[in-house]
Amino acid sequence: MLDILVRQANLPDGRGPLDIAIQGDKIVSIAAHIEAEAREEIDASGRLVCPPFVDPHFHMDATLSLGSPRLNQSGTLLEGIALWGELKPLLTPQAVMERALRYCDLAVSQGLLAIRSHVDICDDRLTAVEALIEVRKQVAPYIDLQLVAFPQDGLYRSPNAEDNLLRALDMGVDVVGGIPHFERTMADGARSVTRLCEIAADRDLMLDLHCDESDDPLSRHVETLAAEATRLGIGSRVVASHVTAMHSYDNYYATKLIPLIAESGMHIVPNPLINITLQGRSDTYPRRRGLTRVPELRAAGVNVAFGQDCTMDPWYSLGSADMLEVAHMAVHAVPMTSREAMEWTFTSVTQNGAAAMGLPDPTLRPGGPANLVVLQARDPIEAVRLKATRLAVIKRGKILSRTAPRLATLTLPGRPQMLDPAAYAPVASDPLT
Ligand code: FE2
Repeated sequence: MLDILVRQANLPDGRGPLDIAIQGDKIVSIAAHIEAEAREEIDASGRLVCPPFVDPHFHMDATLSLGSPRLNQSGTLLEGIALWGELKPLLTPQAVMERALRYCDLAVSQGLLAIRSHVDICDDRLTAVEALIEVRKQVAPYIDLQLVAFPQDGLYRSPNAEDNLLRALDMGVDVVGGIPHFERTMADGARSVTRLCEIAADRDLMLDLHCDESDDPLSRHVETLAAEATRLGIGSRVVASHVTAMHSYDNYYATKLIPLIAESGMHIVPNPLINITLQGRSDTYPRRRGLTRVPELRAAGVNVAFGQDCTMDPWYSLGSADMLEVAHMAVHAVPMTSREAMEWTFTSVTQNGAAAMGLPDPTLRPGGPANLVVLQARDPIEAVRLKATRLAVIKRGKILSRTAPRLATLTLPGRPQMLDPAAYAPVASDPLT
């Protein structure tokens, strides 16, 4: 007797419909038809079954704090940082934990089961660090939560940031963070990159920098990061997040830079939801997009994984723990509308995110962990298009969440019906092909 049998699943690589057998915390078989009984049977009916979503860039200490103590009037990154500075002294461990756990509940309902969260270490009390370490422990059975020691106000610009960062790492924070473009000078920014790379190398830790989140075409810390990652041989565990300034770089410089990034082996994590709203704020028209050079990075073989960054906080007032919403925005904001590229955005918020976080490849396979999501869509592009409902979310063989399919009851004259948004079938003749 199996524990769970998922019938008629389409897989993200196009195979299907296939049955998926789960015993304990493992997938034991994936085959055209599995003749067996199970305690729980889920009929996917030709819908997509995929690995859980991954968010490699988030700020869980700030999430769900929208409006506290006030709203961001200008919509800029700098007002967001100032606003967070007003909220920081008011934080309590209980309040941070309560917001973070509420967010984790939402994440589970959206099939989002791996999150890398930056945590600001510029508060000398390390209130948020203490709270999120406890949250990491509490959610460990169902969410892989990694924490990044993030000097929001600058490693050198904020008086105790370096000591606080080392204290946070000693407390068990997983990843070294930084924000070179926010240091006082370009030279300080470059110095911070070198120092942070050396801390990561010495402690055998991963490194994830907010890097060149700016419209300044001369903000070029990602070049230093690539060089230092190569020098120290740590590129595979290094992430450059945002990297929006690359949008504004001179094209010739970009052709020199991108091969250096590829050579280093580091990962790039753009955050399309927030950066399409934050960037270009000092432009009149034409107004720049806030996205880095995704197609060119992909073509050079760099692992690119999209992050969400924020949900209802000083920087971004929307968001819903939905990585399909992130992929959907990436399709528009980059833009990348070929079928191959749209399919790739789905991979970016699953497999590529896992690679950026240093997690095992989550591709569904016999012998692998029984971590999967059943979507109300038949394939990855439809999932992105519809931001598809997560019908079932399973982690280590346990069903964590179920959502009823979205069905509209239409009472149109002569056309009464239950309308499934995923019921249309334009795939073979899609004009976008
Ligand atoms: Fe961020």
